[in-house]
Amino acid sequence: MSIQFHEQTGIFSLETAHTLYQMKTDKTGVLLHLYYGKKTGGSMDYLLRFTDRGFSGNPYELSGNRGYSLDTLPQEYSGNGVGDFRLPSVQVLSENGSRSADLRFAGYAVQKGRAPLEGLPFVREAEDTETLTVTLRDSVIGLDVQLQYHVFPSQDVIVRSARLINTGSRKLRVEKAASACVDFLYGDFDVIHFHGRHCMERMPQRGALPRGITVFGSRRGMSSHHSNPFVILCDRHATENTGDCYGCMLMYSGNHAEEMEVDQAGATRLVAGIHPDGFSWTLAPGEAFQTPEALLSCSGDGLNGLSRHYHDIIRQQVISPRWQHARRPVLINSWEAAYFDFDAEKILRFARAASEMGMEMLVLDDGWFGKRDDDCAGLGDWVVNEKKLGCTMKELSDRIHDLGLQFGLWFEPEMVNEDSGLFRSHPDWALTDPDRKPMLARNQLVLDMSRQDVVDYLFDAMCAVLDHAKIEYVKWDFNRSIANCYSHALPAERQGEVAHRFMLGTYQLLERLLSRYPDLMIEGCSGGGGRFDAGMLYYCPQIWCSDDTDAVERLEIQRGTSYGYPVSAMGSHVSAAPNHQTGRVVPLKTRGIVAQSGTFGYELNPEKLSDAEKKEISGQIEDAHRYAGLIAHGDYYRLNELDDGKDYSAWMFAAKDGSEALVNLVLTHVRANGPFPYVRLQGLVPDASYRLEGTDRTYAGAALMYGGFSFPPAWGDYPAHQLHFVRI
Ligand code: DGJ
Repeated sequence: MSIQFHEQTGIFSLETAHTLYQMKTDKTGVLLHLYYGKKTGGSMDYLLRFTDRGFSGNPYELSGNRGYSLDTLPQEYSGNGVGDFRLPSVQVLSENGSRSADLRFAGYAVQKGRAPLEGLPFVREAEDTETLTVTLRDSVIGLDVQLQYHVFPSQDVIVRSARLINTGSRKLRVEKAASACVDFLYGDFDVIHFHGRHCMERMPQRGALPRGITVFGSRRGMSSHHSNPFVILCDRHATENTGDCYGCMLMYSGNHAEEMEVDQAGATRLVAGIHPDGFSWTLAPGEAFQTPEALLSCSGDGLNGLSRHYHDIIRQQVISPRWQHARRPVLINSWEAAYFDFDAEKILRFARAASEMGMEMLVLDDGWFGKRDDDCAGLGDWVVNEKKLGCTMKELSDRIHDLGLQFGLWFEPEMVNEDSGLFRSHPDWALTDPDRKPMLARNQLVLDMSRQDVVDYLFDAMCAVLDHAKIEYVKWDFNRSIANCYSHALPAERQGEVAHRFMLGTYQLLERLLSRYPDLMIEGCSGGGGRFDAGMLYYCPQIWCSDDTDAVERLEIQRGTSYGYPVSAMGSHVSAAPNHQTGRVVPLKTRGIVAQSGTFGYELNPEKLSDAEKKEISGQIEDAHRYAGLIAHGDYYRLNELDDGKDYSAWMFAAKDGSEALVNLVLTHVRANGPFPYVRLQGLVPDASYRLEGTDRTYAGAALMYGGFSFPPAWGDYPAHQLHFVRI
């Protein structure tokens, strides 16, 4: 049993393989958080200190006891306006104008497994999953909050969410509903968050968490390039392989906030969920609101240890079982090869060359539908432009399949151009403010996915294309942030629901398409990695990591992404040199090694390749097949510390059973008479021997891990090394 309740002490204990999570319902019915961290054994309520702090008041029923304050004690899910002045987890407006919420314990239930969430992505049940539901109640306003805890012992993950139910007889308006709140009694933390921009996503920034409130998040209607819904709190001295680290990842693709507060006594609160700015949700009596899930994890083995927990839970319980073990096809994408300028004959020439080199799928990107020869028109009109192609989509797909390749197609379902048949017939289907000109971005508007008629239209339009031709893959793009988030189908008082209803509509469309086409692989994309989150990963086993395909830039982007997400989810392609985003020239070998640490593919015009390059690419594809299992399912380790100022970037994969390892190193700055790049390997069996493939040299696992390995001097721009060690 990973969940236990001790009646006498009121303590709930949630245990995973290496961690313990404890909370306690006390005599007042307040649910106090006790501990989250490495397993300890026993109860942790000795950590609670009751003290009288000035300006931290006391609950009315304890007014004789100045040592008990909601403001100083660790809360499991903080209320609002009744004495805890720190970050609230919930804010609910009652009909009388009060925003107070005082939550007290009202019961609990434990079950094996977990129930699926309706309409939202969720972490799929594992064999050993158990669920605790704790009900907190504010009987004055008629609000129940059901806190859900799904324990995943093997992956060291606890998944949390909250369900708010209006049990009263009057309307409530939910203005904030966090997915999780975690109070840490002690600890001086560093916080790491993942900021960025288009073409430079998920840049880790680490710094000491200051006193007061720190907030990260997105109000762009999408999880965003700018702030990923994932934060890490870690010991100030934590490194990649040592120290305690805590992660909180939201399984959500819309507006989100990760709020942290270090209080008057140095205790830290983390509250994460849908961004409260602009959010409100009306709950009629009897109605419920379900928050997205938050994946919490803790590791005593540094940042690499924490990443491995997230990699495992995403690979094993988030990605659809359909794709968990399937090797992903090596694809060629037409975007950087042709942009909007193609017809079927050109695409077929690409396909022929790609097939000769060993590629397995051709993806036709933007431009095949409506009046779409640039990014000014056509979005919304998902009808094949046969005039441009010179044939039907079925004919093109059949001929591509005749060449031995699978076929994929680009869509951007949630968008519309003003210059489109769809917008002309349904202008009210776009999100626009009444009486105001909308913000344009890439010349497009956003469809109102909160409307069922819009979702139904998109479903039918996409099915018409997918039914007509054999299509194994869809690239699902999303190329702007949402402004003018106003639905013409909802009344004024419900406009605060639009952003979340938008996400529910998108998730519904994904769900319906996947139920109808269970073998369809959908690759997520949002101008690269603008919606790289666990919500999209539930539907899409891989997500295009960035529109920046420069291998040197990708070293940083893929490394940053790896803190929370496995490489098997990162769309990564070899593109042309000079690179189209930076003009940088990187050797083909290096471009191959970087793209291989992702879902491998190509994004270049194969007609422009020399014979020597084609031969090298065939070799890269053979290597990608050879290492596919190790890269997709092995343990991933970053071998550099964050911002260590080294002239190289190094990372490795180790088979979970220690049978092989693949070490990659790219020199980002070659220096005259420079030091030898040096790394210590991870994840090997210390007393086993390993042979370096291609040589007769053998090394003890312990030697490679403790003594390390140094690389010979290199020459030129951005050289790379790849070493494969096999246990003998
Ligand atoms: C943005 C994507 O990230 C690109 O790969 C490409 O699909 C373009 N959109 C097409 O418009």
